Amino acid sequence: MKSSLAINGGQKTIDKDFNWPLFDETEVNAVADVVRSGKWGNPDCGDLIKSFEDEFAAFCGTKYALTCVNGSVALRLALIACGVKPGDEVIIPPYTFIATSTIVLEANCVPVFVDIDPETYNLDPLKIEAAITKRTRAIIPVHFAGQACDMDKIMAIAKKHNLKVIEDACHGHGAEYKGKKLGSIGDAGCFSFQSSKNLTCGEGGMVITNDEKLFDMMNSLRNVGRVKGGQWYEHHYLGCNYRMTQLQVAILAVQIKNLADQTRKRHENGTYLNSLLSKIKGINPLGRGVGETLHSYHIYIFRYDKSEFNNLSKPEFAKMLVAEGVPCFMGYPQPLYKQPLFQKKNFMCYAIPDYVDYTKVHCPVTENACYEEAVWILQHGMLGPKEDMDKFAEAILKIQKAVSA
Ligand SMILES: Cc1ncc(COP(=O)(O)O)c(C=O)c1O
Repeated sequence: MKSSLAINGGQKTIDKDFNWPLFDETEVNAVADVVRSGKWGNPDCGDLIKSFEDEFAAFCGTKYALTCVNGSVALRLALIACGVKPGDEVIIPPYTFIATSTIVLEANCVPVFVDIDPETYNLDPLKIEAAITKRTRAIIPVHFAGQACDMDKIMAIAKKHNLKVIEDACHGHGAEYKGKKLGSIGDAGCFSFQSSKNLTCGEGGMVITNDEKLFDMMNSLRNVGRVKGGQWYEHHYLGCNYRMTQLQVAILAVQIKNLADQTRKRHENGTYLNSLLSKIKGINPLGRGVGETLHSYHIYIFRYDKSEFNNLSKPEFAKMLVAEGVPCFMGYPQPLYKQPLFQKKNFMCYAIPDYVDYTKVHCPVTENACYEEAVWILQHGMLGPKEDMDKFAEAILKIQKAVSA
């Protein structure tokens, strides 16, 4: 039976290319127009960037949007502009991309890891308050995979303890919580336009906010500390050149036109796939978060139980699923605090206090997600017809049958 598996030379369950990004001559022409215009940079080089920022702010329902070089820098700008000081603590989940944590270290602040909810893989609001100390200044909830965090609870905790909330919406373009776009609920919301993201131009970032003071500070930090009305070589704050180019924005301005339809499509496919996979023994799709109204499925995550697959390890299972033609991945191999960066405190020049010791951190839900449970299907696999979802489920059943025989 095992010989029927594609990994052993058998026929693939689904044999099609899942391409990303999707584009046509419209993007090519948009970039060519910018090249011909000679206005490639920012600022003072044409109005494409400003008009895209306005469009993105309107799409998200915020007053302001600010482009920058990537999602990491968007988070960095937001955190520093919030006024954190060295040694301040910032609460983050350990099940996220490394940048959510490194931007905290780069601000000379201390990342404090709070475990995720086993049903959603998002920061567990019930565990946040126990981690708050007199040094806590901010929370960075990550809308992981494009699933909304429980924002009402997080905002209530932040209000009670006077903390800033910076939403990491790098997976959440176009997704919604109680009808509001992710990123628009906290003090600031941050997005990535890196190649794999649901809205991309190769690399890039955006931060949105309703707070004028925060916006002005982020704008200054993005632009080497310049201020409105100041002279070109007048620098007020420790910023850097974090500006995006008009060439990138030309692509985004075309790509964003497809975002709402693509998000809806992934949401529908995700809901349908949930119904299929929940019927398979040993496969348990993540629950939908409280208040989530639109999931962007940057990643479709399901929980794998190897005991129903003859103890086949998760990495082996994921490899077999890839061979069957499903665009999937075993996800993060370990929680962030287990990375050598944290275990060895390889923090370079950044001044993180001596009392901080990540070897003692233990977040059991995240550890189980990384080591045993979480399998990811990537966003570009969620854009096809319903029949693709049927095939994904069929591929899982095929593996289960083959390894159990
Ligand atoms: C959750 C999360 N936050 C932040 C980032 C950083 O974005 P960028 O790669 O654009 O710097 C990423 C990128 O993968 C991410 O997945």
